[in-house]
Amino acid sequence: MQNYNEFLAEILITEDVLQARVRELGAEISADYTDGNLLLICILRGGVPFMVDLSRHITSPHTMDFMAVSSYGAGRRESTGAVRVTLDLQTNIHGRDVLLVEDIIDSGHTIASVLELLQVRQPKSLKICALLDKAERREAVVPIHYRGFSIPNKFVFGYGLDLDEYYRNLPFVGVVDLEKYEPLK
Ligand code: IMP
Ligand code: MG
Repeated sequence: MQNYNEFLAEILITEDVLQARVRELGAEISADYTDGNLLLICILRGGVPFMVDLSRHITSPHTMDFMAVSSYGAGRRESTGAVRVTLDLQTNIHGRDVLLVEDIIDSGHTIASVLELLQVRQPKSLKICALLDKAERREAVVPIHYRGFSIPNKFVFGYGLDLDEYYRNLPFVGVVDLEKYEPLK
């Protein structure tokens, strides 16, 4: 296993800056959802650290659930659009105020497909909270209601975002130097 310092080009968002922004988002969401009908949905696995921290800053009552999707085709670092649900929700979302919590919106294909398939289940509302927005790469129209940070078109890791499934645990968001990174298992 390589030490991440060998391919860390730069720390894009430090732990302190991340945590301060997550706290602000939590306050905003607490003010917008007050009646206990809020359901946070985390898209596994990248959204886990963000949703856990965010939830701790939401002072209004809410429940949480998890789902996993996998996207077809393309490369390891790209998605194509079509998604397959690999782990479905346990919660009936009919009539709930659903907030989808995602680590990053890149092309937007993944979240656009998830929105489509959840809309059919008739939630009362369906919104998106994304930690990172890589808008330059957007191909699908995606409304982001709560946005942590807009970031440049660089491949990032840490705080939920993986490099071949590793490094999701890092407390900061870093840019990877893909020339120095070698997948090793
Ligand atoms: P989209 O369908 O292109 O928007 O892809 C979104 C998914 O791709 C995210 O949920 C991440 O899992 C992954 N992804 C996109 N960009 C990055 C990145 O810079 N680092 C790590 N994962 C990424
Ligand atoms: Mg993801």
